[in-house]
Amino acid sequence: MDVIEAVAALRERLAAARRAGGDVGFVPTMGALHAGHAALIERARRECDCTVVSIFVNPLQFDRPDDLEHYPRTLPADLHMCATLGVDVVFAPAAAEMYPAPLSCTIEVGRVASHLCGRYRPGHFNGVATVVMKLFQIVQPDRAYFGEKDAQQLAVIRRVVRDFNVPVRIEPVPTVRERDGLALSSRNQRLDPEERKLAPALYRALCEARRLIAEGADDPERVRQAAIATIPRDQCLRVEYLELVEPDGMQPVERIEGAVLAACALWVGTTRLIDNLMCDSPRARVD
Ligand code: PAF
Repeated sequence: MDVIEAVAALRERLAAARRAGGDVGFVPTMGALHAGHAALIERARRECDCTVVSIFVNPLQFDRPDDLEHYPRTLPADLHMCATLGVDVVFAPAAAEMYPAPLSCTIEVGRVASHLCGRYRPGHFNGVATVVMKLFQIVQPDRAYFGEKDAQQLAVIRRVVRDFNVPVRIEPVPTVRERDGLALSSRNQRLDPEERKLAPALYRALCEARRLIAEGADDPERVRQAAIATIPRDQCLRVEYLELVEPDGMQPVERIEGAVLAACALWVGTTRLIDNLMCDSPRARVD
């Protein structure tokens, strides 16, 4: 496995892989790798000849300085995991390599970022879109793998690719969960044992929304309130949002029909967790 820090060296390494006729699969990450990332890497390994993982904590996408400061950084363990999984190349640039000068152009994401996390984390998706666009230009992958846990991020990336004609196939990968339903996230490491016990309330609330929708509930506000009501009243827990949106454009639905995405952000102590579930209504969508 090659660990490369410089853009020029990475380009050279990947040019060699392409000359050998191989498809390049790309898994962008911010490190602190867990089994959710492993699922992305395993898919890339199965489907591509050369798998590249980037590890870069992107300052541009953090809306709170303390979140950036406390984001877990575990490079030696990450490299070990990548090597074990058979990754070909890890790209682990320093911030100065990615941003040698202040950017004069950035991507401003439109309506798809107007609700859910986009509403509560100003600038976050602009930072994600900008760094992913840079990474796509640097790696030029044939396929790129993103987790469905970050459903709005996935929707944003699909739009970036469409709007800027980026020649890459976006491959969504299902969320990996603990046995109690908690979606794997690098942020789970920050939960203390008490908070860890409370955290699956997020998944359970989404399951309640999915259950009601499967039974034919069509009023989003009622489903929202019923799902929120499953979350224990505990001073550690605070719902930031729980919304029912249409899965492509991430806009709240006025009536539940067809497929809708239930998405939630829950603060557990000082840790913000997000999750979502796709819900199928027996009511046909009337367009
Ligand atoms: O999902 C993430 O880890 C990050 O948002 C990404 C896509 C690597 C961009 O920094």
